[in-house]
Amino acid sequence: MGVNEFSNNLINNTAMLMSSPPVHQSETEPKKDETSNNESQIDKSGQRVQKMFGEIAPRYDLMNHVLSGGTDYYWRWYTIRKASPSGTSPILDVCTGTGDLAFAYWKRGRKQIPVIGSDFTQEMLELAREKFKKKYRKEGDATSVEFVQADTQELPFDDDRFQIVSVAFGLRNIADTMQGLKEMMRVCQPGGRVVILEFSLPGNKLLRGIYTWYFRNILPRIGQFFARNKHDAYEYLPETVSAFPYGQQLATLLEQAGLKKVKFIPLTFGIATLYIGYKPESNVT
Ligand SMILES: C[S@@+](CC[C@H](N)C(=O)[O-])C[C@H]1O[C@@H](n2cnc3c(N)ncnc32)[C@H](O)[C@@H]1O
Repeated sequence: MGVNEFSNNLINNTAMLMSSPPVHQSETEPKKDETSNNESQIDKSGQRVQKMFGEIAPRYDLMNHVLSGGTDYYWRWYTIRKASPSGTSPILDVCTGTGDLAFAYWKRGRKQIPVIGSDFTQEMLELAREKFKKKYRKEGDATSVEFVQADTQELPFDDDRFQIVSVAFGLRNIADTMQGLKEMMRVCQPGGRVVILEFSLPGNKLLRGIYTWYFRNILPRIGQFFARNKHDAYEYLPETVSAFPYGQQLATLLEQAGLKKVKFIPLTFGIATLYIGYKPESNVT
C-alpha cells in the first residue's frame, strides 16, 4: 500500500469519527469572555503578517503536518468533497500559502478546472510554484494551478469569475475580515460558493481547556524550535485563534457580508470548522 493509499484509507476510516453533522447553532460554544476575545488588540498589519509568514515559509508545510498530527490532510480532503467543484469555471484559493488547498481542488476537478492560488507573501508563493512543478504538473495537463501575489482585501480579478472561492486558515489573518470577505464574494460567480476552513475551539469545556493549554504553552515552543522564527509566529497562532469568531458568530458575519444558506461543520472535536455560503444569484435580496 502506497503512502497516498494508506493516508486515503486512514482518512476514510476517520472521516465519520472526526466530522460532526452540519449545524446552524452550537449550544456548547464558549461565551466571549471564556476565549479572551480582544481581536482589535492583535497587530495584523500586512507588514507584520507578511514578515512572519515569509520567515516560517521554508518549514511551514512540515510544521503544519507535525502540529496538526497530519489532520490537515483530512480537513482538506473533507473540504473539497463537501464543496466539490463542477463544470469548468475556475476556482480561486486566497491566502493560499504553499498551495495545498489549491492543489487539492485541482486534483478534485481532475485537472480540467483551472485553479488560481493568491497570497501576499512572496516566499510562500515561491514554494507553492516549486511544489506544483515538482509534485503535480505533468506533460499534457489540460489546465494548471497559477499563483498570483495579491492582498485578499484587494483582489486583482474581475467580478463574478470563480465558481468557488476558498480560504484555509487565512481568514483570521486578514487585517479587515469584512473587506476580505467582500472581495471573495465579489469575484465569486452568482450562485457560487465561498468556502472557509478555519481554526476554532472545541465545544466540550474539558477538551477546550486541554486544547487551549496545549495551544498556549506547548505549541508555541515546538513551533519556535522548528521554525526558528524571531517574529512570534506560533504565539500569534493561539492569540488569533482564541480571539477570532467561530461557529455561529462567524456564520453570522458571513451572512452580514451577504452570503446565503451559510452552514458550518465542526471538524475533529471542533478544533477546525468548515463554513460554506452561497453568493446570491442576483443583487436582489
Ligand atoms: C496560516 S497560512 C495558510 C496557508 C494555506 N492556506 C494553508 O492552509 O496552509 C496564512 C496565509 O495567509 C496569507 N495572508 C494573510 N493575510 C493576507 C492578506 N491580507 N492577503 C493575502 N494573503 C494573506 C499569509 O501570507 C499566509 O500565507
